[in-house]
Amino acid sequence: MNQDTSNLIGLAEKYGTPLYVYDGELIRQRYRELHTFISWPKLRIYYAMKANANVRILKLLGKEGAGLDTVSPAEVLLGLRAGFAPERMLYTANNMTDGEIREVRKTGVLMNFESLVHLEKFGSMFPGSEVCVRLNPDVMAGYFDKIKTGGALTKFGILLQDIPQVLDIAQRHRLNIVGIHEHTGSGINNSDAVLQSMRNILDAIIPEAFPGLRFVDFGGGFGVPYKPDDRRIDYATFGRHITDIFSAFCRRYGKELELCFEPGKYIVAEAGTFLVQVNNLKDNRGRLIAGVNSGFPQLIRPMFYGAYHHMDNLSNPGGKRNVYDIVGNICETGDRFAEQRELPEIRIGDYLAIRNAGAYCYAMGGVYNLRPMPSEVIVENGKDRLARRGLTNSELVEQMMGESA
Ligand code: LLP
Repeated sequence: MNQDTSNLIGLAEKYGTPLYVYDGELIRQRYRELHTFISWPKLRIYYAMKANANVRILKLLGKEGAGLDTVSPAEVLLGLRAGFAPERMLYTANNMTDGEIREVRKTGVLMNFESLVHLEKFGSMFPGSEVCVRLNPDVMAGYFDKIKTGGALTKFGILLQDIPQVLDIAQRHRLNIVGIHEHTGSGINNSDAVLQSMRNILDAIIPEAFPGLRFVDFGGGFGVPYKPDDRRIDYATFGRHITDIFSAFCRRYGKELELCFEPGKYIVAEAGTFLVQVNNLKDNRGRLIAGVNSGFPQLIRPMFYGAYHHMDNLSNPGGKRNVYDIVGNICETGDRFAEQRELPEIRIGDYLAIRNAGAYCYAMGGVYNLRPMPSEVIVENGKDRLARRGLTNSELVEQMMGESA
């Protein structure tokens, strides 16, 4: 039994399951290594907190010097509470309401507009302000169709051909465009797509038309391996290409600008493990089905995207291998964490570790079937601490009772 396995079983027994466990050191390492891969002196990493908004993780990254990519007023407010200064956040929501624009404006966080309608609205509400503009890079990339964000078929960003309208709005409302932003997609395992997006955006920026730029932000999307045969991008080479492209642009622009990225998955995906316990086994005419004490509302990626999450049977790593469906406790047939997965023999009471559960797992959670979200634990320097306690059933019921209690 390796170190990782015995620690995880210890945590499952100490805190109970289901349980999210995060490796704080790996999060720090991933954040730091981006700075070694991308050697641009004015590199800024804005962690995409939508991937995992656990406050311990936010604080850890805040101490490292990260900024935050935020997408809702509550994300901004939580970021502020976690100690991030407004200057270290960027607000990139879509379909913002007037109320939302006012609420975020009050915090002093820079806003990034991705539609002409909202840029115009913001300009008339707050003429003379600084803004960031999100352009659509016209490159389609991402691990699943649902998470590709570039290209004319998606709702994101202002098309490059509409830049003249952006400039017209900015001029009429005296808006100072201090940043240009784009995001291509999530889980991109092909660095060429990101580089192509960078080129498309930078080629569209005419220095005289955008004299006030402080930064260009190329979003997130850096992929990490999920399946055993997924290859990891050669980030050192990728980083060199990024720096080359950006430095050529800055020479043309006439100023060394800040180079920003907004990774979520890259920083936290691999640092998370979701622990569940087997409490049911069926042999349905040869199809082995193992039932666990969690379900898709607590980790929805397999059901929602067909995402693969690697699994280990922590309790019986040397067992004879069989093929299983790993199913949850929710009243839907699609409630499966894995289908036809080969794993060492599973017995009632075994703990299973669902890997790469740090990004978009807890964050996309819900309480369908009225099962409260699990607790989260963070481990750093060999010490574990509760990062957020899950609600008890009665606490959830109190919440549901609301005003009728
Ligand atoms: N910046 C913007 C503007 C974004 O929309 C996103 C992700 C990111 C940064 C961070 O992307 P990342 O580095 O994490 O790939 N729920 C999906 C992923 C959705 C990503 C949405 N936007 C999943 O579970 O795969």
